[in-house]
Amino acid sequence: MKRGEKVVLALMAVMVLSVMARNWWVGRHQGAEDRAIPFYTTASPDLAKQGAELYRQNECRQCHSLWTVRNMMESVPAPALDGIGSLRDEAWFFSYFSAKNPQEILPSRLKREYRMPSYATLPEAERHTLAQYMASLKVQDWYLADTRKAEYEKLTGKEYRP
Ligand code: HEC
Repeated sequence: MKRGEKVVLALMAVMVLSVMARNWWVGRHQGAEDRAIPFYTTASPDLAKQGAELYRQNECRQCHSLWTVRNMMESVPAPALDGIGSLRDEAWFFSYFSAKNPQEILPSRLKREYRMPSYATLPEAERHTLAQYMASLKVQDWYLADTRKAEYEKLTGKEYRP
């Protein structure tokens, strides 16, 4: 083996070893929290089923992501709904869905066609179910601040400064 080749091999060995060492280090120092999914729902199986069904029927996912599922082709900058029930409560959701003009409750920075539509014409029971379902979408405490920041930045387009 030529001297040059030895040097190259030695350098490669050092690189491989340092990547291994880094992975070991990160693996050791990452709490279980960092690897877990922070979002969960408190909904009963019945509510989860009805809520998901209404969510699908009303095409909420044309604009929103939930459980990180969304229609990529038609995605607009609407806030993600994962964890939204930790930021607002059921009564708020109900009045928001019932509002003729939701932007009076939550101002929009978007073009009209991308804004949150009014769901005031949905039957009241369905608005209740949707509101209950939204309220059940929670985020673990350790991810609450990140969720709030992401929501704020989506809504305003500005940097979040608590
Ligand atoms: C045409 C796109 C669009 C559709 C369809 C849509 N939304 Fe929205 N929604 C938005 C946008 C954009 C916002 C942020 C406020 C705004 O810009 O009007 C929003 C806001 C919200 C909020 C408040 C989020 C926050 O940060 O507090 C909730 C909750 C919500 N939508 C739920 C729903 C549900 C449930 C459906 C289906 C029944 C739905 N949206 C359908 C675009 C949409």
